[in-house]
Amino acid sequence: MKRPLIIAHRGASAYAPENTMASFVKAMEMKSDGIEIDVHMTKDNVLVVCHDEKVDRTTDGEGFIKDFNLSELKKLDAGSWFGEEFKGQRIPELSEVLELIKDTDILLNIEIKNAPIIYPDIEKKTINMITEYGMEDRVIISSFNHYSLIEVKKINPRIKTGILYMAGLVEPWIYAKRLNADALHPLFYNLFAPDFVKECFENGIMLNPFTVDDERYIEALVSLKINGIITNCPDIAVKIRDNIGGN
Ligand code: G3P
Ligand code: MG
Repeated sequence: MKRPLIIAHRGASAYAPENTMASFVKAMEMKSDGIEIDVHMTKDNVLVVCHDEKVDRTTDGEGFIKDFNLSELKKLDAGSWFGEEFKGQRIPELSEVLELIKDTDILLNIEIKNAPIIYPDIEKKTINMITEYGMEDRVIISSFNHYSLIEVKKINPRIKTGILYMAGLVEPWIYAKRLNADALHPLFYNLFAPDFVKECFENGIMLNPFTVDDERYIEALVSLKINGIITNCPDIAVKIRDNIGGN
């Protein structure tokens, strides 16, 4: 596989409503290597894909996901806010995304949203679903809540984890090893610190920065031969990666 892998952030979210089946299909059409999704849990304990803990910004409804049963959540329109042609898109279940990609070689980055709202056993439920689909080797779980990542490794050490963070942490590869994590998922500016990439690779830590849409930064990161780039514009990133000839 060519490197860096191009991972579509919330699907091809520059072109279709984020975290909907339309945005995932679009990401696949644009030849993304992977898709990043955000996962929350409903009142009746179903894992669903949405960025915010509330439905207000991306649907025609109001309120917290934790207060909806799946059947109520499924009535909401998650497409019209982005464009009339996407009317009728729904908040997907995690299982729908797994179903969509199971017969492909698309990688799935599942971001567990587990703060400020804590969803009991969300790690276990997510892993059970991944296991049900036999996709343990095609998934990387990330989170800003690093306790969730420790929990993932406790439940199944085989599943890869990526530490999400924004601040300019010092020697985060040491922290990553402490957490038994496989990757760092930093805000992309962090990669330009001196020796950052070299140190991570020497310590066996993969790098999948987010969210990189500017062509100049995509080019710079492709040249660093990192593992993945999380972007809203997978078409642009694939083109740059393939032109520069990363491998
Ligand atoms: O996983 C990368 C990125 O999605 C983290 O931030 O807020 O877009 O979920 P956010
Ligand atoms: Mg995310």
